[in-house]
Amino acid sequence: MTDSPISTAKHGDILVVTSDSPPVNALGAAVRIGLDKAFDEAASDDSIKAVVLICAGQTFFAGADITEFGKPPVEPMLPAVIAKMEALDKPVVAAIHGTALGGGLETALCAHYRVAVPSAKLGVPEVKLGLLPGAGGTQRLPRIVGVKAALEMTAKGDPIAAKLANQWGLVDEIVEEGKLLEGALAFAEKIKAVRPVPRISEREAKADADTIEAFRKENARKFRGFDAPAANIACVEAATRLPFAEGLEFERGEFMKLMFGSQSAAQRHIFFAERKASKIDGIASDIALRPIAKVGVIGAGTMGGGITMNFLSAGIPVTIVEQAEEALNRGVGVVRKNYEASAAKGRLTTEQVEKAMGLLTPSLSLDDLADCDLIIEAIFENMDVKKEVFGKLDAIAKPGAILASNTSYLNVDEIAASTSRPADVLGMHFFSPANVMKLLEVVRGAKTADDVLATVMNLSKKIKKVAVVAGVCHGFIGNRMLMPRQVEANKLLMEGATPEQIDRVHVEFGMPMGPFQMSDLAGVDIGWHRDPSRIESIRDALCAEDRWGQKKGAGFYDYDEKRNPTPSARVAEIIEDFRSRSNMPKRDISDQEIIERTLYTMVNEGAMILEEGMAQRASDIDVVWIYGYGWPVYRGGPMFWAGLEGTPKIVEGLKKHGFAVSPLLAEKAEKNEGF
Ligand code: 3HC
Repeated sequence: MTDSPISTAKHGDILVVTSDSPPVNALGAAVRIGLDKAFDEAASDDSIKAVVLICAGQTFFAGADITEFGKPPVEPMLPAVIAKMEALDKPVVAAIHGTALGGGLETALCAHYRVAVPSAKLGVPEVKLGLLPGAGGTQRLPRIVGVKAALEMTAKGDPIAAKLANQWGLVDEIVEEGKLLEGALAFAEKIKAVRPVPRISEREAKADADTIEAFRKENARKFRGFDAPAANIACVEAATRLPFAEGLEFERGEFMKLMFGSQSAAQRHIFFAERKASKIDGIASDIALRPIAKVGVIGAGTMGGGITMNFLSAGIPVTIVEQAEEALNRGVGVVRKNYEASAAKGRLTTEQVEKAMGLLTPSLSLDDLADCDLIIEAIFENMDVKKEVFGKLDAIAKPGAILASNTSYLNVDEIAASTSRPADVLGMHFFSPANVMKLLEVVRGAKTADDVLATVMNLSKKIKKVAVVAGVCHGFIGNRMLMPRQVEANKLLMEGATPEQIDRVHVEFGMPMGPFQMSDLAGVDIGWHRDPSRIESIRDALCAEDRWGQKKGAGFYDYDEKRNPTPSARVAEIIEDFRSRSNMPKRDISDQEIIERTLYTMVNEGAMILEEGMAQRASDIDVVWIYGYGWPVYRGGPMFWAGLEGTPKIVEGLKKHGFAVSPLLAEKAEKNEGF
């Protein structure tokens, strides 16, 4: 078995089984075959008294091999392999570093003991892939960490640190960082004579019914729309009432239902889509990057402040520039307040807050940006103003500095043309609140240099963003697709739908909010002409009456002091008034029509974006909508969803309402395939 990723070596009477399967020691077929043989060796060799199971490289087994999902199964299957290990009558010690995730942790749970280095993390993230731990995890975890902790781990999927795992009994001993093998061997020496070996499957899981019900209730909102959390909870619950073997069977049944359902397919699609998004077509992955040691941000408003925090949190110094002292102080004050709020919630220490703030240099002069490697403009959305600023930057910035605009709609090529160095210019479109939202659209101008684009895409990882490359077009990917949705939502109001109905359809679909709730949150007055006497739309009428959204206590909805919305009789009147003035007959609008006109149109726009090469791939569009707008991850983003819904049905729906169908979408429908 020379090219097997699994090797064995004897250290006295202890057999060390090592997996070396980069990048993450996923439990693919070759690993399973190798492990199976190694456990046979351990069983048949009487001179072996104990086994240490360890991984080479960056991590312990990070889970089943997700690329195998949906393909014909290859024997031996993971549950059988690890059951063989558990059944050994000599102790196995799992030695954990990096991340023991999913099937990886389930493997460790079949070992008789677990040791880990302090930096290790342990978890069952399957729920994030629309699944559950299907190799006994839901049955063994409650038997070792208790039902409450098992519910948290399985239904939420966040890993826990080795120290907590140690407190919970999941890890028997913490060994010195960097000395895992030595630590594991020393531990094995101590326990090698223990017989019978302790097996988690032989323990009991106990909980009163209230614990499980309380957990369901507490998290109902978080789990809304998702199938997998409920299935995880049901399995843990099964562990409390069924004998182990029956519990395993129950788990298998639930796992299979999820595995072949559309939600898991969607969530697995997003797992890979997110990783693919960072790859830039046509640019070598080893291209030399420009060093970014210092960043400049122009504008200390909400966006500028949020953008700044990303870099400070990553340990990169920022010079933030405003025109007036008051605005500068206010902006810096908000940054501090945000950090202090995180500290109050226990997410940061006071030391970390001060460290981040210590990296911030406020300034009133653009000249102070001369030593910055990257300068991000986050000022008023106006082409003339932006061009003026970029013209000035051109004279100030050092050669090779990257100049970025945070514009959400404007033409990046035009902005670049106001400098003598368009190759160094691109768009970095952050989403509000910029310190929270994970999406970053990186807008590649016609002249943007390859290394500039690659540098910014690489930097985005350091500031924990998911970055997607977009081309220069009005609204780039996300906001461009928002436009047809907004136009149709407004028309639907005129034709007889209410804001409540349209929003409800979107929320039931899984969006965090509908178009009118979003408008009220962002500000109905954004982009308004500010002339109360000029009323040409429902929006104008709302703005003229000071109904600017949540901030004014009234918008498309009425709000109480706690910002709870209620449908507004006044808004209904305004809509009625508009309708009668334009002689538009009122009719009943079905929920399906709302879907066809506000969601099918988004798919159509996405297809046009692809045709025009404004997105590199359909999955990038999905990433934009998941991370920038809260599209339900269990529907995989608009382009993946198009495949679930059926492209022929979408084309038919679009045609019914008279929309011009994108040729690419028509072609997909012709072949009855997704994107
Ligand atoms: N299967 C197959 N490929 C995987 C994988 C897996 N479980 N986990 C990661 N990879 C691949 C990634 O796609 C990526 O490939 P690429 O280089 O070609 O893009 C490469 O490994 C490196 O991954 P990351 O870029 O994510 O590396 P990081 O160092 O940032 O993160 C990690 C490492 C924390 C392990 C992260 O990859 C991760 O969270 N992986 C998924 C873990 C998971 O969900 N495990 C459960 C799987 S389901 C399961 O086990 C079912 C069982 O119950 C039966």
